[in-house]
Amino acid sequence: MSDVVNVDYSTRIPNNVGLTEDRQVLRALEGWHPGYLSWWKDMGPEGFQESLVYLRTAISVDTQGWAKFDYVRMPDYRWGVLLAPREEGRKVNFGAHLGEPAWQEAPGEYRAMLRRLIVIQGDTEPASVEQQRHLGKTAPSLYDMRNLFQVNVEEGRHLWAMVYLLHKYFGRDGREEADQLLQRRSGDKDKPRMLGAFNEATPDWLSFFMFTFFTDRDGKMQLESLAQSGFDPLSRTCRFMLTEEAHHMFVGESGVGRVIERTAQAMRAAGVEDPGETARVRALGVIDLPTLQKKLNLHYSLSLDLFGSEVSTNSANFFNSGLKGRFRESKIADDHRLTDATYPVLKLVDGAITLVDEPALTALNMRLRDDYTQDCAKGVERWNRILEKSGVAFRLRLPHVAFNRAIGQFSRAHADPDGQILSDAQWAQARGAHLPSTEDGDFIASLMAAETRPGRFASWIASPKAGIDNKPGDFEYVKIENS
Ligand SMILES: [Fe+2]
Ligand SMILES: [Fe+2]
Repeated sequence: MSDVVNVDYSTRIPNNVGLTEDRQVLRALEGWHPGYLSWWKDMGPEGFQESLVYLRTAISVDTQGWAKFDYVRMPDYRWGVLLAPREEGRKVNFGAHLGEPAWQEAPGEYRAMLRRLIVIQGDTEPASVEQQRHLGKTAPSLYDMRNLFQVNVEEGRHLWAMVYLLHKYFGRDGREEADQLLQRRSGDKDKPRMLGAFNEATPDWLSFFMFTFFTDRDGKMQLESLAQSGFDPLSRTCRFMLTEEAHHMFVGESGVGRVIERTAQAMRAAGVEDPGETARVRALGVIDLPTLQKKLNLHYSLSLDLFGSEVSTNSANFFNSGLKGRFRESKIADDHRLTDATYPVLKLVDGAITLVDEPALTALNMRLRDDYTQDCAKGVERWNRILEKSGVAFRLRLPHVAFNRAIGQFSRAHADPDGQILSDAQWAQARGAHLPSTEDGDFIASLMAAETRPGRFASWIASPKAGIDNKPGDFEYVKIENS
């Protein structure tokens, strides 16, 4: 028997799923491994592949001390298959199969649906690595560069996690899907990634921080609801992925927070009182707050699209069949079947934004999106506390959910960040005030000069409060020149 807490490093693929005894799956994964490595070489971080990076590697799924830190060359990172420990007697906790024992094999009648859920989740993982591959060259510090690479190797591991499920439980179909996960490319015309936000560019570090705050947080919400799955291997995989995901949230929130802090500092030092004096603020070598707001608007609205249509029979089917639950399903006090329940959904009715009660089952995307919005709002509040403390008269805010949408109810209309419906002409006029322009992008790009001296930070970002793994401020997180 394999040890479910500690990880077996005796095979090429570290795991706690007993791969040594599971020859068929081990062989399938070993067959997939070279393709993965060549994908990493082609589409993973550009440059720095020989550099020593101070990374954490999962060595256990014990909540205490699950990771160890050390210098690693990224291609040598031990991508492994790690599942949270099995809970004895776990049940299906929602839907039509409520109360039945959780499935240890893919239930035959839901096989196609389940595979689709796994493939959609799996596709986002390599996509973000592809989107972020150019950023190493312009890192504002070695600390940030290390965090980027940490996120990248872990997204790679999340791909492994989904590919393991495909190989283990879905036979030939699963193997084909696993291969295709290595073939699609973010932003590619012919073979794009499956979801919109994962085909957008991440051209600069502010985009990266916004992405990890907003888009990785969609990932967190999806993982939270898949962690509720009645298909136990999926639940266990997602539970462990969430442990890693917490760091990605941290990178995004603290990254934007440090940008805000630095801008506020520079404004104060130069005596700039009006945040709207963008030219004066930009001249200080920091990012002005209205531009930050525009970037926030963009990334939030793109991420809202990831939740799909507000009213969706797919989401009802995923829930009914016990495959995908709600955010923290097991902590919700209701019947977990939702057969008669309703949920208020924001819809576009005769051109007006209206709250309409819909059957709760078909409104599950909306509900998860609402939970997401609440989670985002807490982070924005913490950012605003930095502004408040600095005495800067500016507050960031989430735009209305109808703003800049490409999917769902509001894709059919234009709205401003307050949720006022705009005509095409009004939108064309207002757009530039609410979304980053080419010129804004050029300005941000102009700040993106690499800072590779240990303990130093680029002009536009404050240093972090603490080091990774309690390392001192001048710690060399990436040894760039190394041979
Ligand atoms: Fe991930
Ligand atoms: Fe992530």
